[in-house]
Amino acid sequence: MQPIGAILQHLYAARIIGAGPLRIPTHMSYRERISLFRTAKQIPKGSSIVEIGSWIGASISIMGAATESPPAPLVCIDTWMNEGMSVDPGSGPLDKKSSHMGEKLSTYEAFQKNTAPLEGRLTKIRADSTRVSAADLPKNIGLFFIDGDHSYDACKKDLDLALAVSGNDTHVLCHDFGVHRGVTDAVCEYHAAGKVILHKLVDSLAHLAIPA
Ligand SMILES: C[S@@+](CC[C@H](N)C(=O)[O-])C[C@H]1O[C@@H](n2cnc3c(N)ncnc32)[C@H](O)[C@@H]1O
Repeated sequence: MQPIGAILQHLYAARIIGAGPLRIPTHMSYRERISLFRTAKQIPKGSSIVEIGSWIGASISIMGAATESPPAPLVCIDTWMNEGMSVDPGSGPLDKKSSHMGEKLSTYEAFQKNTAPLEGRLTKIRADSTRVSAADLPKNIGLFFIDGDHSYDACKKDLDLALAVSGNDTHVLCHDFGVHRGVTDAVCEYHAAGKVILHKLVDSLAHLAIPA
């Protein structure tokens, strides 16, 4: 049986986000999911959402639910092969609970099934994110969410791509800050270099702003 606190958190999140996206498994906490939803709600009409690391569709479904009317175009980049999910020696306890970590298996079918309600607004780029370039992405991006390969090198490349396509009002969000050492080091390095401003942290969801 679930503890009462978890049930209450679920009910609270369902009131804000809706029950549908919350049914899809994810490692994001309720607070992170609500913050992702609220940030997506703020993007200007006509702008797109780009996500690196979609796994089985929970986070893109949350952002999709926040931007239904008018429907924001959604771009998902993933190999859908569970890439880069091996345990990082510098990581926190969340990793040890994750049974799928390190297994190479296709998550594409589950993603397709779970994101069926978003069909028509979803562009899938099935590729290694480090090989995706700005030319592959839309021009006007309101939110860029990074949750792919958590290694330092890959995270820096994902941040470089986000910075190449972002304007001053683009929300750049990075999951697993403070959980995976690679993500934490990459974000801190970019913050120290003045490339991004780490302006809010909700659990391990880092909200980055682009300096003017
Ligand atoms: C933690 S999961 C994403 C979870 C998802 N954001 C959610 O909460 O619903 C990370 C995903 O990144 C993908 N991934 C890892 N390395 C990648 C890479 N180099 N290029 C593209 N996708 C990658 C994996 O296949 C996996 O689906």
